[in-house]
Amino acid sequence: MLEKLTVGLCERSYPIWIGDGILDRAAEALEEAGFPRTIAVISNPTVHALYGQHFLDVLHGANLKASVILVPDGEEHKNLDTLKTIYDGLIEKGLDRSSGLVALGGGVIGDITGFAAATYLRGIPYAQFPTTLLSQVDSSVGGKTGVNHPLGKNLIGAFYQPLHVHIDVNTLSTLPRREFAAGMAEVVKYGIIRDRSFFDWLSAARGGLQSLECDALVQAVKRSCQIKANVVENDEKESSLRAILNYGHTFGHAVETLSGYGEVRHGEAVAIGMVVAAMISRELGLCSRDDVAVIRDLLASFNLPVNPPAFSLDAFLAAMGRDKKVKAGVLRLVLNRGIGDCLIREVADPEALFGAVLPSLSQK
Ligand code: NAD
Ligand code: GLY
Repeated sequence: MLEKLTVGLCERSYPIWIGDGILDRAAEALEEAGFPRTIAVISNPTVHALYGQHFLDVLHGANLKASVILVPDGEEHKNLDTLKTIYDGLIEKGLDRSSGLVALGGGVIGDITGFAAATYLRGIPYAQFPTTLLSQVDSSVGGKTGVNHPLGKNLIGAFYQPLHVHIDVNTLSTLPRREFAAGMAEVVKYGIIRDRSFFDWLSAARGGLQSLECDALVQAVKRSCQIKANVVENDEKESSLRAILNYGHTFGHAVETLSGYGEVRHGEAVAIGMVVAAMISRELGLCSRDDVAVIRDLLASFNLPVNPPAFSLDAFLAAMGRDKKVKAGVLRLVLNRGIGDCLIREVADPEALFGAVLPSLSQK
């Protein structure tokens, strides 16, 4: 099975291939995209042990000149030191402007590879081969690249679109279940903010998704990528619409900050943040009590947490105040209108709003 989409950005447009077993078609896809024939594959030891050699065999089988640069696994290595290791490797291998980078891994590998490609020799092409659910439905599409700084996540980066995105859902068979659930949070997010019928389909298909049925996975990833592509096409650099992709993220980031990075997966924090956003939407008359219950149940059915950890309201407010989505001291929240639609609203009195919803959630 192979599905193809396009992210339409004029001269920066690119295809997304989604299927099962399609890593075998990597060389064909790269050639079709006009990708350079000299390639550095950026990966980590975890992913390389699972897929790296086979991937290289496929590229070498098509006479592509490919070699590997491995970087350590983990969000804590998404930094300038690792970026330097990549630059060192590229220079030692003599990669010039007629070369390209391929990211083989999750969102950490994708983000850092994209930024290396954006900056090496003032920019060379790159392709995304995402292997986690989160990277397949979110980070590999849209061209946000970058690394973390000790003072904050993703503070150094660039918008730089790939030449090709290649999603093989078979790679999800080796993904730890907790990582799979974290990715499902972003999938459910697309249904809540943009597509009621997708949300209902996810509810009906959850058994198949949980047991990693290829058809269900391909459909879920495809619809997620379509929605993300459509948003990015309309607002590539997040001057307005793209901010809706941050639904659940303001409170989610506060959960991550307070719990300590690494304790909670990003998707788990976003799941909690989405329930809080839905509660606030209900408080403001934008959705019903039933909508909140249905959102909560769907997230819980994917083994995602839905209740905030026990921190004080003041601690949550302080952590949200540091969030980069706070503009000039005003908290801007993405809120759901029913299920399938959303809006961005400035909240003048976050203390009253969060104070109204958090006690009822923490009692559950
Ligand atoms: P990750 O890249 O750390 O991957 C999670 C773990 O799964 C890692 O240990 C990884 O080695 C392992 N792994 C990857 N594929 C595997 C497979 N098929 N089988 C077994 N193990 C596998 O985490 P992630 O959740 O994929 O990505 C998180 C990153 O994505 C964060 O840095 C975040 O900032 C970034 N992000 C970027 C965007 C964007 O638009 N650029 C959007 C969302 C998130
Ligand atoms: N993950 C949010 C974005 O790509 O804009």
